[in-house]
Amino acid sequence: MNESRVPLQGAYTMSAIREMVGSWRLTHQTVALVPTMGNLHTGHLSLMEDASSRADRVVCSIFINPAQFAPEEDFSLYPRTLAEDEALLAEQGIVDLVFAPEERDVYPFGVENMVGVTMPELSSQLCGASRPGHFDGVASVVLRLINIVSPDILILGEKDYQQFVLLERMIKDLQLSIQVESTPIQREKDGLAMSTRNQYLTADERRIAPKLHAELERVRNSLREGDQDYQAVEARASLALETAGFDPDYVEVRRAADLGRPNGMGSCEGLIVVAAAWLGRARLIDNVRV
Ligand code: PAF
Repeated sequence: MNESRVPLQGAYTMSAIREMVGSWRLTHQTVALVPTMGNLHTGHLSLMEDASSRADRVVCSIFINPAQFAPEEDFSLYPRTLAEDEALLAEQGIVDLVFAPEERDVYPFGVENMVGVTMPELSSQLCGASRPGHFDGVASVVLRLINIVSPDILILGEKDYQQFVLLERMIKDLQLSIQVESTPIQREKDGLAMSTRNQYLTADERRIAPKLHAELERVRNSLREGDQDYQAVEARASLALETAGFDPDYVEVRRAADLGRPNGMGSCEGLIVVAAAWLGRARLIDNVRV
């Protein structure tokens, strides 16, 4: 337990969260927000650690946002483990406040009637190509969480790299006065990126899953060795994933700064390889910097 922090408290209403954060503001304490959908694992805890090194107070929001799930996606099956999450956070002592609002508080007029954020074109590429509207839904809830919590810093994980780039863009474009920071991916010993959805994998699929990261590392190595035929590299990686048992959604070489397509000229510095692939019921995403 981090002795400098008070025991974990919970806020489940708008007035409770505003009151708590307001009391910190009165004493000029800075606040970091870590937005999550709960079912917390070691990957999330690294976000909380990062948050606590950057601000006086850490708020972890837990809200499974219906607006970012398409009708056929796993909203109803998504693990809901608030009591376990709170127990874990209390034991860790990193977070000061858990904010777990009700859907009617986040969307007072209902999700169907919400005022939404429309994200730029990048939101319909990569993960957005197979999840139309997903990033609009993410942005719509994160903007609300920022407005409710009014943090100084927003902490996001790099596993959802496209989400990070798009939210950074939203914050700049809407001129929100909040700093955004990203935290590196946490991996299992065999390289699999930590994710709530890993629990959807069967034992056999779990053995295959690390091959996604291994393939991305192979792509990174060939780019470092000077290969600039990105399309060929991407196609080879997709085929290798298919052969391993995945149903790949995409493997792409992009610029890390804005996820734009690189022109294939010059050095590979500043590039990132991003991928998404289905393995059984789990849609896994991962990325490596070149
Ligand atoms: O990354 C997630 O868990 C979610 O997309 C987020 C940022 C909490 C918004 O619902």
